[in-house]
Amino acid sequence: MKPINIGILGLGTVGSGTVGVLRSNAAEISRRLGRDVNVFMVSTRNAEKAREVCPESTLVTADPFEVVRHPDIDIVVEVFGGTEIAKDLVLEAIQNGKHVVTANKKLLAEYGNEIFALAEQKNVMVQFEAAVAGGIPIIKALREGLAANNIRSIAGIINGTSNFILTEMREKGSAFADVLKKAQELGYAEADPTFDIEGHDAGHKITIMSALAFGTPVNFNACYLEGISKLDSRDIKYAEELGYRVKLLGITRKTEKGIELRVHPTLIPESRLLASVNGVMNAVRVDADMIGETLYYGAGAGSKPTASAVVADIIDISRLLTADPGNRVPHLAFQPSQVKPQNMLGMDDITSSYYLRVQVKDEPGVLGQIANILAKEGVSIEALIQKGVLDQTDAEIVILTHSTVEKNINTAIAAMEALECVHGPVVMIRMESLHG
Ligand code: NDP
Ligand code: HSE
Repeated sequence: MKPINIGILGLGTVGSGTVGVLRSNAAEISRRLGRDVNVFMVSTRNAEKAREVCPESTLVTADPFEVVRHPDIDIVVEVFGGTEIAKDLVLEAIQNGKHVVTANKKLLAEYGNEIFALAEQKNVMVQFEAAVAGGIPIIKALREGLAANNIRSIAGIINGTSNFILTEMREKGSAFADVLKKAQELGYAEADPTFDIEGHDAGHKITIMSALAFGTPVNFNACYLEGISKLDSRDIKYAEELGYRVKLLGITRKTEKGIELRVHPTLIPESRLLASVNGVMNAVRVDADMIGETLYYGAGAGSKPTASAVVADIIDISRLLTADPGNRVPHLAFQPSQVKPQNMLGMDDITSSYYLRVQVKDEPGVLGQIANILAKEGVSIEALIQKGVLDQTDAEIVILTHSTVEKNINTAIAAMEALECVHGPVVMIRMESLHG
């Protein structure tokens, strides 16, 4: 059979990894696919690198639009990143009838609805396994493996850079800035690493998974984002003493009132599998009505793991080229006519448990005042401990609450901060038990 011709946009970490996987595993890929995959053209500003990385026959151009317009290219692989030029390239590729593989979660979280609508109109496939959790085949699991289920919730460690930073800080006591630099050197971080540490990247990924799980359009604007940059190492230490680990989680959950969609540092019990996911590894926990809890674990970033997902998409598309478009797996897992907006909950209406750290005047009656405030808001306390005296006058107390609606906690925090005996802002970190 005639080889599949691909055109690759960008020869950075993922682009060069993709060429590397296609070359080193060419024989195995052909055995599975029944035809060869030919790197027909690449777009790069670095022609010298292209000559090092690509086969001799590969055409090299500095103009990415040449790739999306070339009549001999079947599949365009977009690994530029960002949304400006990448969006124009992907839309033009689709307009020209090309199938697309992209690792670009930002693009899909922000413009996925427009991209998928055009792809459906043009009868082409847009595959994006690498966009969520690097090499882990979580998109395939959500769209196909779990298709018999009503999905109830997804919680995942889905930003390798943040998890790498949290792990190195906890295990080696390394400084935040040093570990971030190392993550950049290892090719884990986004071009702008603020996206990693402030939760945007995890937000893009959980937004995509939420749409696939619940059959909604992608809605990144509804996603609450809070990253790891303001975490205090004291809270990581106290959490550990109480039997918890702090992880940056992306969470989406369907409730009777609507869908929760959020990213924030989260305390999870150390007995949960997610608590032992360290370094650049990612893991996604899916809770669904028929199968119950499933967990997907693997490398969440890096050249070869991400390229593994990109190449799997190339193979998938190549196998489905002749399938009737009506029989392909829908982009957002549900038939396009069944993808419908649902109520997205604001943070005041989400339900969680909470870790609170309060700096108080070390005098009799303080604990009582704080406990009364929580009781007034209907918040039940799981544990309340004094962490020691900070100086001659102040002490710190740490409170773990049972599950409650977030607006109750916010009201309680405001009331605590208004007390004369409470000094400084109350630190709040959400807690998830992650039981079935
Ligand atoms: P890199 O920055 O390493 O590579 C991107 C490449 O795209 C650049 O090297 C450049 O190629 C090309 N490029 C980008 N913008 C332009 C432009 N305006 N004009 C011309 N060329 C451009 O990024 P990654 O490979 O790390 O990431 C690519 C995509 O994959 C992103 O969407 C990212 O979020 C996603 N991703 C990355 C993962 C990772 O582990 N790194 C994991 C999962 C997804 P050249 O230098 O050849 O000109
Ligand atoms: N910057 C991303 C991360 C790359 O660290 O997870 C993988 O999507």
